[in-house]
Amino acid sequence: MAEEDIFKQFREHSVAEFFKKNRQMLGFSGKVRSLTMIVHEFVTNSLDACEEAGVLPEIFVQAEELGSDHYRLTVKDNGPGIPKSHVGKALGQMLAGTKFHRYLQQRGQQGIGASACTMFSYLTTGQPTKAMSSYKGKKVTANITIDFKGNKPVVEVLGEEPTEDRGLTVVAEFKDVRYERSNYGVYEYLRRTALANPHCSITLVEPNKEQVVFPRSVQANPPRPFEIKPHPLGISTHDLLEFAKHNKENRKISAFLQNAFSRLSAAKVDELRTILPDVDLDKDPTELDWNEAEKIVKAFQQVKWIAPAMDSLVPIGKEQIEASFTSIFSPDVLVVTERSPKVYRGGIPFMVEAGIAYGGGLVGAEKKGEVMRFSNRVPLLFDSGGCAITETIKTLDWGRYDIKNFENEPIAVLVNLVSVHVPYTSAGKQAVSPEEDVMEEIKLAVMEASRGVQRYLSGKRKAHDIATKKKVIGRYVPQLAGDLATLSGDKKDRVEKLLTRIIEEKYQDGGDEDPETKQETSEESGGGEEE
Ligand SMILES: Nc1ncnc2c1ncn2[C@@H]1O[C@H](COP(=O)(O)OP(=O)(O)OP(=O)(O)O)[C@@H](O)[C@H]1O
Ligand SMILES: [Mg+2]
Repeated sequence: MAEEDIFKQFREHSVAEFFKKNRQMLGFSGKVRSLTMIVHEFVTNSLDACEEAGVLPEIFVQAEELGSDHYRLTVKDNGPGIPKSHVGKALGQMLAGTKFHRYLQQRGQQGIGASACTMFSYLTTGQPTKAMSSYKGKKVTANITIDFKGNKPVVEVLGEEPTEDRGLTVVAEFKDVRYERSNYGVYEYLRRTALANPHCSITLVEPNKEQVVFPRSVQANPPRPFEIKPHPLGISTHDLLEFAKHNKENRKISAFLQNAFSRLSAAKVDELRTILPDVDLDKDPTELDWNEAEKIVKAFQQVKWIAPAMDSLVPIGKEQIEASFTSIFSPDVLVVTERSPKVYRGGIPFMVEAGIAYGGGLVGAEKKGEVMRFSNRVPLLFDSGGCAITETIKTLDWGRYDIKNFENEPIAVLVNLVSVHVPYTSAGKQAVSPEEDVMEEIKLAVMEASRGVQRYLSGKRKAHDIATKKKVIGRYVPQLAGDLATLSGDKKDRVEKLLTRIIEEKYQDGGDEDPETKQETSEESGGGEEE
C-alpha cells in the first residue's frame, strides 16, 4: 500500500463494535458457557437491584428450547424495575449503568452485562430483547436492540400501562447456546448462587419443563454494604485530575479533596500544605494541572492514613457458609475462616472468607479436590486457570496439612472475595487477577481453615492407630492368659478378663504417654507392635 493511502484506512469504533468483534472477552465462547454467562448477567443484575431497593429477591429463570442450539430465555425479578427513561440505556448501551462509578460492593461493576446479552441475542437471532419493566406503578414494555456504531440503544416502546407489580422481566432469544446440566451449566450456576445467597429464592424451569426451586433459607437480606468514597492511597494522578475536572461543588482544591476522598480531613489538608508548599490548595480545582496533581498524589503516599472504612464490605458469613456446606456435602469436618478487611493497590478495601469441607458426603463424590470460587457472592465457574483463587489453592503446600494429594482427596474449598471493586482479569468477570495483597489474604484464609482440617485428620489417624494396636495386642491375650493361669493357678477366664481390662484402660484416653509407643504412633509403624 502506498504510504499516502495507509491512513485512508483510519476509522473510529465504538465500545459496542469492539465487543461485537470480541464477544469472547465477555465470556461468550462455547455453547453451554454462553448460556450460563447470559443467566449470570441477568441474575446478578436482579440480585443487585433487589438488595439496593431493600427487597427480598425472588427470581424466575426459564430456558425454552426452540430448535437446535436455539433457546428463549426469560428472567424475572421483583426488584424496583427500571424507569422508562433509562430502560433502553440499561439494556442497550455498553458502559452505562448505576454501578461503574461507585465504590460500593455490588455484583455488577462495569455497565456492560445486560447490553452484552442484548448484543448476543441480536447477533445470533436478529431479534430484539423484550423488556417489561414495572417501576413506580407504571409498566413499560419495549423491544431493545443496539446501534453498534454509536453504542446507542434502539428502543421500540410496545406499551405502557399502570401496574401494581414491580420488577424487571427480560425475554430474549439466543442461538449458538446450549442448556446442559453439567458443572458449567445454568443449573449448577444457580445452585451455587443459592448457596452464597440464602436470602434469595430462585425458580428455574428447564427446557424439559422440569421446575427446580432453590428456596430461601434466610428471611432477611444481608446488611447493606456502605458506599464509600475513594481512599487517597488508591488514587492515580489521572483519577485525581478527572475528579477535579468534574467537581462542581467546591471552589477550592482543599475543600474538593475533603469531599472527594475518604479519610481526608481538614487536619490532613494542613499536613498536605506543609508537604506541598508550592501547590496552591486554595485555587479552583478545575485549574489543577498534571504536575500539581502528580505532586499531590506523591504527597498522599507520605501521609499516614486511617485505612478505608470497612463497613463497606459484607461477607457471606461463617454461619451461613457452614449451613450451606453442611446441607450440600454433610462433611465429616467443616472449618470456615473469615479474615479481617484489608486493602489492595493501597486503597481498595477487600476481604476474604474461606471454608473447607472434608470427608463425609465428599467421600466417593464425583469431583475430588473441588474449588468453589465466589466474588461478592457470585459463583465463578469459568477461567479457573488464570484466577488468583485457584492459583493460590493449587500452589499451597497441602502436605503440611496432612492432605497428601489435593486433587484426589474428598475435600471442597470455598473462597469468597468481597470488595468494592473486584480486580477481574477480563470483562467476562470470571477470574480474579493475581494482585499480590489479594493473593496473600486468600492464602492466609485457606491456610487457617486447613489447620482446622489438619487437627481433625490427625485426631482421626490417632484413633485409627490405637484401634489397630488394641487389635494386635488383643491377639496375644488368650495365649498369654492361658500361660499366666498355668503359672499362677488362677482361672484362665479371670486372667483374660483382667488383661483385656488393662488394655482398655491403657488406651481409653487416646493411648498412653509411654514415649516408645508415642514414637510408634507418629511414625505410623505397622507390625512393630508384635515384638
Ligand atoms: N433487573 C434490574 N433491575 C433494575 N435495574 C437493572 C436491572 N438490570 C440492570 N439494571 C440497571 O442497568 C444497568 C446496566 O446493567 P449491566 O448489567 O449492563 O451493568 P452493571 O450491572 O452495572 O455492571 P456489569 O457490567 O458488571 O454487570 C445497571 O447498572 C442497573 O442500573
Ligand atoms: Mg450487571
